[in-house]
Amino acid sequence: MEQGKGTEAQQIGPSTNNATTAEINKKLTDAEVEDLIDASLRGRQNSYSPYSKFKVGAALLTEDGSVVLGCNVENVSYGLAVCAERTAICRAVVEGHRKFKAIAITAEMGDTFVGPCGMCRQTMVEFGLDWEVYLAMPNKKYMKTTVAKLLPDSFNPAWVTFT
Ligand code: THU
Repeated sequence: MEQGKGTEAQQIGPSTNNATTAEINKKLTDAEVEDLIDASLRGRQNSYSPYSKFKVGAALLTEDGSVVLGCNVENVSYGLAVCAERTAICRAVVEGHRKFKAIAITAEMGDTFVGPCGMCRQTMVEFGLDWEVYLAMPNKKYMKTTVAKLLPDSFNPAWVTFT
């Protein structure tokens, strides 16, 4: 596994040491994480990726408990591809959600966790730093991280004043 190597300890997979949710600093229970990963796999089934053939699914858990799915949507004009994370976030915003607890992202690249691209990281930062990101594989193995960890020292909306 390449991701997470040499960084602060990350939780890989469900807790096995009887730790409580608080002890391992997760906002979600193991069951909620599994449900969110299942949802992201459902989103992944709709991936429109005829060019890259790289299917990505996402599932966002909103503060009010809704789950919003996303998948990557490509275009013959290749640069127009939209990632699964951003389709989920845009869809959630359209549905009136702006507060998120977590996102699960599922893609398949052997035994490597696939991290979100820079554009998706900045899109996540727009909606807060303190929410969780679960990078998952189709076999449901996952790595937990956070928006803040994925984009440290980010350009932050809190710095911009609206008049
Ligand atoms: N992709 C995502 O959907 N999310 C990511 O985090 C990385 C990349 C998509 C974009 C494109 O459709 C395909 O994966 C190959 O880059």
